[in-house]
Amino acid sequence: MARKKNDEIKELEEFEELEVAEEEKTEEKTSKSSKKITTLEDLPGVGPATAEKLREAGYDTIEAIAVASPLELKEIAGISEGAALKIIQAAREAANIGTFMRADEYLKRRTTIGKISTGSKALDKLLGGGIETQAITEVFGEFGSGKTQLAHTLAVMVQKPPEEGGLGGSVIWIDTENTFRPERIRQIAENRGLDPDEALKNIYVARAFNSNHQMLLVEKAEEIIKEKAETDRPVKLLVVDSLMAHFRSEYVGRGTLAERQQKLAKHLADLHRLADLYDIAVFVTNQVQAKPDAFFGDPTRPVGGHILAHSATLRVYLRKGKAGKRVARLIDSPHLPEGEAVFRITEKGVED
Ligand SMILES: Nc1ncnc2c1ncn2[C@@H]1O[C@H](COP(=O)(O)OP(=O)(O)OP(=O)(O)O)[C@@H](O)[C@H]1O
Ligand SMILES: [Mg+2]
Repeated sequence: MARKKNDEIKELEEFEELEVAEEEKTEEKTSKSSKKITTLEDLPGVGPATAEKLREAGYDTIEAIAVASPLELKEIAGISEGAALKIIQAAREAANIGTFMRADEYLKRRTTIGKISTGSKALDKLLGGGIETQAITEVFGEFGSGKTQLAHTLAVMVQKPPEEGGLGGSVIWIDTENTFRPERIRQIAENRGLDPDEALKNIYVARAFNSNHQMLLVEKAEEIIKEKAETDRPVKLLVVDSLMAHFRSEYVGRGTLAERQQKLAKHLADLHRLADLYDIAVFVTNQVQAKPDAFFGDPTRPVGGHILAHSATLRVYLRKGKAGKRVARLIDSPHLPEGEAVFRITEKGVED
């Protein structure tokens, strides 16, 4: 209790110190605030040293700072929370994000959303045209239900031009179970009229060895995304297959659940940020056990629980049907009617 009080006082003092320091810099500040904020050093209270710390931690753009949390900045830059808040607020104004938007403008932004065909017309129809950019699509189902196969197909389809269901884009693939198969990409590409070698060149694959590494790879992904953004092959699809495998095996038992959910929430927030900022479709897979005893109930209780359920923009449940068929069902879509689509897995990947 006493310790907490002390901490509070200390923080207050730090905050006051900062205010004094800022008053001293008033002159400099006025000239600063009239200047357009383009680099980190333009933000209030950010000098070269702080800017370097932020950059080292991956916060190298105004946008990245704008969506950071005060606690994150506090830890990284060793500044007070109050100072962090000021920096974030200035970044938000400069980046013009995180504010309200009129609904007609919002609609306009939504019309810039790209769609990637799954390879199956029925499944595309169910999804309203394919999987969307600026969103996280989660596909969940038991082993062998086709999650990884669908991801392989999307990784090829996204490379096609828009008139053929793609976005002329490249792919980042985070593989946690060692199930990415370049041979399969070649096969699907060949059967869909693409040069198989070119198809492989447009996919950047990394194997994630544990959940921390998986999260780090998302940061690394941003470097490639930025690099490719100005080229004619921007990254348009980011696959995480599987999203939950490491989290599930590392955090076992009740006691660790809160920590796991916290990390998972951060991981998903990072993915959302990339999806929004760079107009990318994020596609994540999640294995669930089909429970025979829950036959008439809802077998769709993916690992990850609420955090995942509320974070994915669109959730698709896959199950094995008769004669090698697969059945997809939409769960809780905010803007699409619920329904089912039947598809097959063949040498073309996913098709009707
Ligand atoms: N080249 C192919 N041609 C036809 N069908 C294939 C081919 N490759 C894989 N399949 C089918 O895909 C199934 C595997 O699907 P997939 O690996 O996508 O499952 P998953 O949902 O990712 O499972 P897990 O949860 O174990 O990762 C196989 O059982 C097989 O029926
Ligand atoms: Mg799989």
